[in-house]
Formats: sequence, C-alpha cells, structure tokens
Amino acid sequence: MRAIVVREFGGRAEVTEMPTPEAGPGTLQIQLDAAGVNPFDKRLIDGFLDGKLPHEFPMIPGVDGAGVISSVGAGIEDFGVGDRVVGKFLIPPVGHGTFAEYIVVPAASIIAKVPDSVTSIQAAALPTAGITALDLVHAARLTAGQRVLVVGASGGVGSYLVQLAALAGAHVIATARPDDTDRMIRLGAAEVVDYGRIPVGDSPTREQSSPLSVADSVRMSTPGGVDVLFDLVSDPAGFGANAELVRDGGAAYTTAGSAGGADLKGRGIRGGDFESSGGAPELRELLRDVGNGDLVVPIDATPPLEGAPDVIGASGARGKTVLVI
Ligand SMILES: NC(=O)c1ccc[n+]([C@@H]2O[C@H](COP(=O)([O-])OP(=O)(O)OC[C@H]3O[C@@H](n4cnc5c(N)ncnc54)[C@H](OP(=O)(O)O)[C@@H]3O)[C@@H](O)[C@H]2O)c1
Repeated sequence: MRAIVVREFGGRAEVTEMPTPEAGPGTLQIQLDAAGVNPFDKRLIDGFLDGKLPHEFPMIPGVDGAGVISSVGAGIEDFGVGDRVVGKFLIPPVGHGTFAEYIVVPAASIIAKVPDSVTSIQAAALPTAGITALDLVHAARLTAGQRVLVVGASGGVGSYLVQLAALAGAHVIATARPDDTDRMIRLGAAEVVDYGRIPVGDSPTREQSSPLSVADSVRMSTPGGVDVLFDLVSDPAGFGANAELVRDGGAAYTTAGSAGGADLKGRGIRGGDFESSGGAPELRELLRDVGNGDLVVPIDATPPLEGAPDVIGASGARGKTVLVI
C-alpha cells in the first residue's frame, strides 16, 4: 500500500510502499479515504512519545482518519464490511498511523460510524481538534452570556471552539490575522482581535507589527475582564499575560502546556494545563452536530497523500488540512 513514513525520530516524511496490514481477532481493517493533519503528528515524528510508548520504524504517522471497513477479524459484532467510519487512532506500537491506504485498529478504539450526510473529508477533520474543542467547552461548563477569549482561534481546535462556545451562548472574542477576520465572524465570534502583522494604510504590501498585544487589546475592549480563557498557542509568558484578563473565579485553560508559572488558584481560577480525554461518545456528538448543520467543518486544504511532507508541522492553519488518500 502507499504510505507516508519517517525512518527515524525527526526524519523527513516520504512516500513509499508498505505491507498492507491484515485484520486479526477483535480488529478492523479500514481502507482510508482521508486523514486529518494535526500539530501532534509532527511532535510524534520528533519523538514526543519516545520512552513512553513503543515505536516501530519505518513509522507511518497520522492519528485521525476516515474510510470504509474493508475486512473484520473474528469476534466483531458492532461493525461490518462496508461501514463508513472515522476515528482517532494512537495504538501502540506507534508507527501504524492514518497517513496510508489502510490501517488496522481494535474495534474498541475511538471510532464512530459516519452519517451519510457527512463526507469522509469532513469526518477526518473532526477527531483530534473537534474532540479537544468539545472537551474544553465541557470542562469550562460554559453558560450563555459569558465572555470567552479564544487565543489561536484560527487553527483546527480554535475553529471548532469558536463555534461550540457561540452555540453555548457565549460572547466569543477570537484572535485572528486580518485576512481571517471575516471567517471568525461567520463561525460565531462576536469580536475579533488582530495579532501579528497588520496592513499600513491602504497598501496591501506594507505591514507593521500590531502595536498592541492581544492582552492589551482585550483589556481596552473588555475592561471588566473575561470569564473564560482558552489559550491554544501561547508560551508561558503569553499565557500568564492573557490569564490576567480572566476575572477572579473564572477559568483559564492552555492546550500548549503553558500554565506552569501562572498563579490561577490564588485568584480562584479553574483550569491550567489541559489534556483532551474525550473518546467515541464525543466523536459521535460532533458527527451529529455536523450532520444536523449545527457545526461547520472548517476545511482549509485537501492535498493528496503525497503532499503530506509539505503540510506536516506547517504553520498558518486556517482550519483543518485533510490529506485525500
Ligand atoms: N493538550 C491537548 O489535548 C491538545 C489537543 C489538541 C491540540 N493541542 C495543541 O493545541 C494547539 C493548537 O492546535 P491546533 O490543532 O488548533 O493547531 P493549528 O491548527 O496549527 O492552529 C494554530 C493556530 O494558531 C495561530 N497562531 C499561532 N501563533 C499565534 C499567536 N501568538 N496568537 C494567536 N494565534 C496564533 C496559527 O496561525 P498562524 O500560524 O498564521 O499564526 C494557527 O491558525 C497546538 O499546540 C496543539 O499541539 C493540544
């Protein structure tokens, strides 16, 4: 089968032929149509889980994937050949991921059937980013009218989080570069804070650094502070500055492991470093929301599988990149 592999930790991804895995007892073989790309893929390649889980090389990266069940092993009752499914698969030994034509996974994985109204590309864009966004909304116990700041809103997690927070009735303040402001508003943001470089005057080519930090901008527009901060990208200093915006008794979460230095407990603020723990029930909830038209799947790019080396670890996400297999 065609697959993307790396041959060592930190290695360059390349296209190659690999043996097609066969289903055994309790497992399913899925012929993949689409695989979602996440920042986690690059971290995995760089050895983030070295020493924590066994790995096999050549290693096929990729955690999110959608396709059609092509064979089932003995003892499978809930799934059959021909079912369209999507899942979030990180199954030891690491190295048999979704950036390939086939994957074999235990039937007890994070896996769900895909409704007819949802395409495989849409489904493959959901698991890691969508489940994380849903987990964050659940953890924060959002209520209508709360002011919620999403930093890093333009990427995969953020593009779902803005929508889910708005659906919960929150007043969402999203960060975005100027070219992405309109999309944030369409996804449900009530306010958008520019970050990074901004145009000078009418010239499309002249730019200058934004004169205000995100924290300064929000402090001016929202002097009473925000109820909840979801910070998906900042380093510890940035998270600390953004967490200052949260009113006492609110909540502040980082998915980037940046909470270490911030004194949240002293101000009665819930949250801190956040790890997504959602599974198949959350995936089914997201698929229902997409099928009902309540949640838009923010597809940014759909390169072919062979394009994986160019998109793994790339910056500048405007939603999700999904490899078409
Ligand atoms: N802990 C967990 O369970 C968990 C789960 C999922 C994801 N994560 C982590 O959460 C983070 C976000 O994931 P993702 O999938 O959404 O990543 P992504 O799709 O790459 O999106 C990141 C977005 O943030 C923007 N950005 C970068 N620097 C920024 C800044 N200083 N201020 C505002 N926006 C900024 C990027 O745009 P530009 O490049 O144009 O600036 C991009 O649009 C990653 O670090 C990921 O590893 C953690």
